[in-house]
Amino acid sequence: MTKARENYREDVAGRANVEDTPELLAYYSDLERLDAGALWTVANKIEPWQPKSSSVPVLWRYQDLRTHVLRSVDLVTPEKAGRRVIYLNNPGRQDVAAAVGWLYSGLQVMHPGEVASAHRHSASALRFIMEGSGAYTVVDGHKMTLNANDFVLTPNGTWHEHGVEENGRPCIWQDGLDIPLVNALEANFYEVHPDLRQAVGYAVDDMTKTWGNPGLTPGGGAWDKGYSPLFKYEWGRTYEALKRYADATEGSPYDGVLMEYINPVNSGPVMQTIGASMQMLRPGEKTKAHRHTGSYLYQVAKGKGYSIIGGKRFDWQERDIFCVPSWAWHEHANLSETDDACLFCFNDLPVMRSLGLYREEALADNGGHQPQD
Ligand SMILES: [Fe+2]
Ligand SMILES: [Fe+2]
Repeated sequence: MTKARENYREDVAGRANVEDTPELLAYYSDLERLDAGALWTVANKIEPWQPKSSSVPVLWRYQDLRTHVLRSVDLVTPEKAGRRVIYLNNPGRQDVAAAVGWLYSGLQVMHPGEVASAHRHSASALRFIMEGSGAYTVVDGHKMTLNANDFVLTPNGTWHEHGVEENGRPCIWQDGLDIPLVNALEANFYEVHPDLRQAVGYAVDDMTKTWGNPGLTPGGGAWDKGYSPLFKYEWGRTYEALKRYADATEGSPYDGVLMEYINPVNSGPVMQTIGASMQMLRPGEKTKAHRHTGSYLYQVAKGKGYSIIGGKRFDWQERDIFCVPSWAWHEHANLSETDDACLFCFNDLPVMRSLGLYREEALADNGGHQPQD
């Protein structure tokens, strides 16, 4: 059983096993007064046998949260709040306001005619549109129109603002940022645009029209930034790509039919610190369990099913959000026998990979499925 296998013992050679004596306790006090300490008193804690996430697997039901998100419209203005967002607060990560690991996420609501002031920050950000119409984002002068299941980037250092057109409907989207990571690295700057709004300097949706054409790149197109110039990934094209790929692949035993959103210039992740993917679970598909380092937040873009995370089953439907903490076993299932289910995911894989910390393991026992609590 997985749990027994993971019960590593500390009373073995090579691990710290020093028993307290009056002399040693006095010695530790002496060290403490000098702002120092004996490594063997903390070694087993700071160097666990394997990653120990303080994040808890959580499912945030959209049905439960939606009413409260909409209530915020009557309680605060976007001007006063800066950004009117209800954030996802993982019980194990409340000290850093993270939804999982070093990732922050929240649900933002805007009414027609509202605009949030332009700003920029060192944290990288994305949004995934959940409902409404008429939403737009402006990133460094590039204006993008947004519809449900569109995925939008606001990379670190770019000026950005969001709004909903006068003739639109109330909009809700999921924000995702690496705020906790950038704060942990003590590298976060935040700036409000001097004019509070930025001028739109290009044709609407120009970046998607320029960089979002499959297998084609603009002649003479130059881009040397560390993030993707394709600021918006439209749902229609993404879903079409998944369907086409599903016709040609068996898929992954752990993820079904999965495609990663990429920077079209170098096929790398969309931003330097945040990666994203969309996966399709075919009708009736149940994946096998695996685990890997990195933190993952999923939003159900389509369909209904469940995921077993760390031995616990979470049933989900469209718009629900759930997290998979680092090194937690997880597997997914589509509960429909006729329709596909699609899961949007964003994660810190680019950080794990670029730092050489990515590791993955398949569950060997029990036919590749977790025993449930
Ligand atoms: Fe922002
Ligand atoms: Fe996975």
